[in-house]
Amino acid sequence: MPMQPWFREAKLGVFLHYGVYAVDGVPESWAFYHGDVPHERYMSQLGRFTASAYDPGEWAAVFARAGARYAVLTARHHDGVALWDTGQGDLSVVARSPAGRDLVAPYTEALRERGLKVGLYYSHSDWNHPDYATAVHPQPHDEEMRTNPYASARPGQEDPEAWARFLAYRDAQVGELVTRFRPDLLWFDGEWERSEEQWGLSALAELILAGNPDTVLNARMLSHGDYATPEQGVPVVAPEGPWELCLTVNDSWGFQHHDHRHKSVRQLVRHLAETIGMGGNLLLAVGPREDGTIPAEQAARLEGLGEWVAKHAAAVYGTVAGLPAGHHYGPSTLSADRRTLYLMCFDAPRETVSLRGLRTPVKRVRVMGSGTALEHRVVGGLGGVPGVLWIDAPQAEDVDAYATVLAVELDGEPELYRGTGRD
Ligand code: GLC
Repeated sequence: MPMQPWFREAKLGVFLHYGVYAVDGVPESWAFYHGDVPHERYMSQLGRFTASAYDPGEWAAVFARAGARYAVLTARHHDGVALWDTGQGDLSVVARSPAGRDLVAPYTEALRERGLKVGLYYSHSDWNHPDYATAVHPQPHDEEMRTNPYASARPGQEDPEAWARFLAYRDAQVGELVTRFRPDLLWFDGEWERSEEQWGLSALAELILAGNPDTVLNARMLSHGDYATPEQGVPVVAPEGPWELCLTVNDSWGFQHHDHRHKSVRQLVRHLAETIGMGGNLLLAVGPREDGTIPAEQAARLEGLGEWVAKHAAAVYGTVAGLPAGHHYGPSTLSADRRTLYLMCFDAPRETVSLRGLRTPVKRVRVMGSGTALEHRVVGGLGGVPGVLWIDAPQAEDVDAYATVLAVELDGEPELYRGTGRD
């Protein structure tokens, strides 16, 4: 089944790590796994998780203004705390926290009202489930994975029956998500702790796709994934096939009181432009407070990014990867009909912008936003080696505060010269 086309066209999504960890502002699930916070203290956050100002309608409005076309919410992180009214045990904010209600249903409704696609994050691993630490990865990647009591069975203590119970619980929970909320995207995580066989991913994929064959799956469904999931590390070379970079707006996935190291709007515009220039999507992570509000400094970044996206929508949505490095000093995208190249300029261009190695004649160059046409000419070139296209720099009033985009209309699909300068 080919992946639903909306995913590749969407370009921007918002990732939400929302859970009990926001109460004390500790790392989501990892805080007790690593022993930074005693398990009891970590779990005590459940009793203080209120969702008292939770307004997914407001979230969806902010995401739409950010220019996002989808969002992904942590329905259940590695700590096993479900944000919906699961029938599988009582470890949920519905049963055990003052929030006392399903938080996933109103989120899915609010997103759909705004025309946004619905993504749900679900961790394969569950460090709180009594049957979880009953198996061991056949080839653990690191020592901690083998020895951590939340993650793995002690040597010789494996319990296949308990593990089968865990998988039944996991299948039932994922089944609930698919039938109740019909997510457009299921974003899995935590796959590293077991092998594909141990996870029973073929059966899980079947279960999901039988419920909704259109569900998009990320690569943490291993061989059943539809797209690659680089995390925090910015790719220098595009991953093969469809992909999505997940990136935090500051240094944390969830809300942490002390973390004010937010990327600037200009940096976020760069990340987005570089990602879509290589054909990927950006999944930008924000961490709501325990009451459900998105911190003002994070919402401001989303809004700022959205201003740039709205002004440059044609260069963003539905485009494909642009030119490989070497032709233009910056990223670029190409319209779906391959007739318009969008050149991103991060700094204010001086005198001229140059485009090298383009064989296709250029009909027109315009500055996005103002629409001002720019003079351009091809100089030099010999034989099969095309000359340089020099585009006059835009006037100061047409230079964008974050990144100026030049729309280059081509007389045909781009034909590129990739040689060393001699025939
Ligand atoms: C890692 C972390 C997790 C986070 C995820 C987002 O896998 O375990 O805390 O949710 O990255 O991609």
